[in-house]
Amino acid sequence: MRFPDHDPTLAFSPPAIRAAADAIAAGGIVAVPTETVYGLAADATDAAAVARIYAAKGRPSFNPLIVHVPDLAAARALAEFDADALALAEAFWPGPLTLVRPLRKDAGIASLVTAGLDTVAIRLPRHRAMQALLAASGRPLAAPSANASGGISPTRAAHVRASLGPAVPILDDGATEAGLESTIVAGRTILRPGPVTAAMLTQVLGDVEQGPQAPAIVTAPGQLASHYAPRKPLRLNATQAAADEWLIGFGAVKGQDSLSASGDPVEAAARLFDALHRADASDRPRLAIAPIPIEGIGHAINDRLRRAATR
Ligand code: TXA
Ligand code: MG
Repeated sequence: MRFPDHDPTLAFSPPAIRAAADAIAAGGIVAVPTETVYGLAADATDAAAVARIYAAKGRPSFNPLIVHVPDLAAARALAEFDADALALAEAFWPGPLTLVRPLRKDAGIASLVTAGLDTVAIRLPRHRAMQALLAASGRPLAAPSANASGGISPTRAAHVRASLGPAVPILDDGATEAGLESTIVAGRTILRPGPVTAAMLTQVLGDVEQGPQAPAIVTAPGQLASHYAPRKPLRLNATQAAADEWLIGFGAVKGQDSLSASGDPVEAAARLFDALHRADASDRPRLAIAPIPIEGIGHAINDRLRRAATR
């Protein structure tokens, strides 16, 4: 079984899960229900696949994404868990709780997933379709809500189709249960309120605090206080490097590094945070980057670069 070319939607079934896992393995994106909302999933270890999520959503900036895993062992392979985090996982997983944890160095997660942060948001979902896809693909799956940027989170396959257009493959398993995105917790701080309430968290942790930015933290992409920014000054729209600059090229502009020699904005998005980390670690005190066309996913790249250049 494979997704049809016209209105690529398959109802939940073992062959449909196989088709979705094949699409994921090929670097594609698939909309899949969770118990909260439909997510737009891709292999979290494949930077180009993750870039396709942002491109499909038309997100004007890069928000770090939640990584979905099949079990606690898979979660612990990606991030460090302390006693509090283990207690929360024990109490609420599988379920609508996302834990922000320190990223393990050997996690293998694409830097675009975490937007270059040294933490990662992880969730072990309860929904049969997402669980089956995780098992069949054998990959951690990055998945934001499956709606166009600025749109409402989808609770039905028809919402996804209406929001993301005719091309996105959808695994249809009916309406989701919660209809509200998962609760996000970092340490003992609630970054986003959700189905797992403060009272429920308090029962496990003793006490919790509301995050200072909640709930704006999720509605205003890129507002995260901890958002990765290079330590060195960054000059935008550069076509040539000064002697003390590390130039990140694009297309015809060649530098010490390139986001995409062929000028492909999706490839550029996939490589952006790795390139910024490499530039920061280089022996040159200043950074410069070639112009990236402001269209499609280029909006998100330019938004990120403007933030990185403002200090
Ligand atoms: O219920 C849900 O959580 C759904 C389903 C599909 O799992 N997913 C979802 O993803 O709502 P999204 O991308 O719409 O929201 C993820 C939010 C980001 O906006 C960001 O605020 C937060 O998770 N986040 C991700 N990584 C983070 C990190 N390392 N530190 C702090 N916040 C993080
Ligand atoms: Mg969302």
